[in-house]
Order: sequence, then structure tokens, then C-alpha cells
Amino acid sequence: MKLTILASRNIFKIRFPGVRLYRSISLDPICSKILKTGDQIEAEKLEKRIHHSIIELIKKREDQVMNGEGNYLSLIINESLRLYPPVLTMSRKIEKEVRWRNLNLPANMNLLISSLALHHDPEIWGEDVHLFKPERFSEGVANATKDNIAAFLPFGMGPRTCVGFNFAINEAKIALTMILQCYTFTLSPAYVHLPVQILTNHPRYGVQVMLHPL
Ligand code: HEM
Repeated sequence: MKLTILASRNIFKIRFPGVRLYRSISLDPICSKILKTGDQIEAEKLEKRIHHSIIELIKKREDQVMNGEGNYLSLIINESLRLYPPVLTMSRKIEKEVRWRNLNLPANMNLLISSLALHHDPEIWGEDVHLFKPERFSEGVANATKDNIAAFLPFGMGPRTCVGFNFAINEAKIALTMILQCYTFTLSPAYVHLPVQILTNHPRYGVQVMLHPL
């Protein structure tokens, strides 16, 4: 009796030697959807639980990255771009005559916006403006700039903002992460600090570092 029940529950699964099963091409997938063996149901439940645990693990890792070390990398990149913006100025042409505060700006005038000046303004960033302090970005750009978000312009702003913004940030993060997985690094005594503008902002004599294997 038990064997009959077992055999009928698994009818679409098991094979008895010498007995042909209903293995018609069209019937099998349909039947397998309607009649599931206990093992199949258990297997599906297990699969769902494994899937769920993996998603949970990924979410946890994501939160860690967003709030922990991964995010610190963003602060470091932001602070580097603040002190040494690769693009030092941006220009805009005035379309129509406009009055801005106590200035009359005529049409066709070219405005040169210096991100360097904005990034180094103590009124915006505080007296420690020239120090490398990535923590200043820990509460976001609005907080770091005292609600003057247009004072942080490494990639410009508005409709002509840099199209490579996300690409550049992600590239820097990937490169740094790959290096930091194998090495720590310190600045070489040979390094000479001399940023210069050659189209974009460059370290005049490069940036020599010493890599220390982990
Ligand atoms: C650290 C790297 C980069 C910095 C600091 C940077 C910065 C800038 C800045 C300041 C502007 C001018 C925005 C404005 O006038 O408001 C700009 C424009 C632009 N950038 Fe970048 N950029 C970087 C990387 C890239 C990359 C990797 C690409 C391409 C893959 C790219 C493509 C462009 C283009 C096409 C524009 C012109 C957008 C337009 O005028 O509509 N940039 N970028």
C-alpha cells in the first residue's frame, strides 16, 4: 500500500525497469506543474530560502559599503576633488542682459567660473579650508558647503554637467580598491608638491608613492 502511494506520488519522476512512463513531450512539463512530489516541493522551498538568504547577505554588504569603509572612499575622492579640481574653470555666455545682485551683466559676456576659488573659500568651507579633511563630506555636500552646493563644482553643474561623472568616480573607486586589496601606500620622500594647470590641473612632477605589500 505504502509503495503504491509513493509510486503514484512520484509517477512522473521514477522509472521502473521495463515500464514505459508517460514521457510524451507535451504532457511532461504540464503534469510536472500540476503534480509535484514532496521532494520537489521541499527542494523549491529550500531554493527560495537559499535565494532569500543570499539577497539578505548582499543587502547587508551593501549597507556596510554605503555607511562604512566604501563610503569613506567617496569622502576621500570628494576631498581630493575639492582641493585639486582637475578642471579649474568653467565658462558660460550670458544670453540676455541680466541684473545679478549689484552687477549688470550684458548679453554675450563670457563668465569664467573658478571652481578653484570656490573650493578654497574659507567663508564656505571654514578656516580649515586648506586642510585635507574628508570627514567634512560625511553629512553630504550640502552640509559641507553650508547649503551652497554650487560651491562644490568638480564636475560642473546644470544641463552641461560632466557626462563622465559617474564613470570617473567609479573608475577611481575600482582602481583604489584593487590597489588597497594588496598594498598600503605612503608618499615617497621624492614627491614634490607642485600642482600646475596644463589644460587641466596636474601634479607637475607626478605623484611618487611607495607600495607596501599587505
Ligand atoms: C575626474 C574626471 C573628470 C572631471 C573632474 C571632469 C570635469 C568636467 C567638468 C568640470 C565639465 C564642465 C561642466 C560644465 O561646464 O558645467 C565636464 C564636461 C564634460 N565631461 Fe568631464 N570630467 C571628468 C571625466 C570625464 C570623463 C571620464 C568623460 C567621458 C567619458 C567626460 C566627459 C565630459 C563631457 C562630454 C563634457 C561636456 C558636457 C557638455 O558640455 O554637455 N568627463 N567635465
